[in-house]
Amino acid sequence: MSIELQIQNLSKTFITRQGGVGALDRISLDVVEGEFLCLVGPSGCGKSTLLNIVAGLEDADQGQIILDGKPIHGPGADRVVVFQEGGLFPWLTVIENVEFGLKEREDLSRQRRRDMAESFLKLVHLDKFEHAYIHELSGGMRQRVAIARALVLEPRILLMDEPFASLDTQTRDLLVEELRGIHDKLKNTILFVTHHVRESVYLGDRVVLFTYRPGRIKQTFSVDIPKPRDSDDPRVGKLIREVVDALHGEVEKALREELHEQGAESPR
Ligand SMILES: Nc1ncnc2c1ncn2[C@@H]1O[C@H](COP(=O)(O)OP(=O)(O)OP(=O)(O)O)[C@@H](O)[C@H]1O
Ligand SMILES: [Mg+2]
Repeated sequence: MSIELQIQNLSKTFITRQGGVGALDRISLDVVEGEFLCLVGPSGCGKSTLLNIVAGLEDADQGQIILDGKPIHGPGADRVVVFQEGGLFPWLTVIENVEFGLKEREDLSRQRRRDMAESFLKLVHLDKFEHAYIHELSGGMRQRVAIARALVLEPRILLMDEPFASLDTQTRDLLVEELRGIHDKLKNTILFVTHHVRESVYLGDRVVLFTYRPGRIKQTFSVDIPKPRDSDDPRVGKLIREVVDALHGEVEKALREELHEQGAESPR
């Protein structure tokens, strides 16, 4: 498999009224074509910042993003983000939402755009709801529309920032399984940020653990277990425990530092 995306020596500090906030510190990562890469780390360690820089929505202070051998400059249809809240348009129907991003594709006929939107809605099992409005859908269905809307653009890289975080556990499990099936079929490269270690070990080809801010790569776990993975598989359980242990160390550091920053005393 060839390397598709190179994140090279990326650093970012936000300047705020309180001073500089280091978000990322010299992150380097090579992502191969079709890889499902999961990013985990304590809150505030720069995961969203990294995704935004890869998306071209945010500039790095240092370092670069190389896609297919060329540095990126700003956003592009080859990289699409799915956020925690889908950011769907309430005044459009489901299918119109999915079609929306294709409007600029002048090479496609109207019928072709509609056909593409329909096929991606089918992929996320929402074809029966194509004429519904967003407020008529459950949270899980909305995220499915957001995923279909991203996939219809046929991006090289799908960037997912805690896409299932606002869903209940059952819906979440369902969507995780659905996403695994979609990745198996389409083989897009996916960068997936999550706080759920279980989810990262279930989906990821690799799980990258970040340190507390400024985010550095603390450890990379290769998940060499065939998919679909079974939560009862002892190899899955063992890896989940390893990642959780490593993550807990960083989360504790984050808590200590935040309490210290606020000048609070340690909790009793
Ligand atoms: N636009 C901004 N201006 C100032 N500081 C920012 C900005 N965006 C992010 N930060 C800071 O940069 C750090 C990293 O933020 P980021 O949102 O990337 O973290 P995260 O890992 O995605 O956290 P979470 O898991 O809570 O979503 C945080 O300390 C945050 O306060
Ligand atoms: Mg975030």
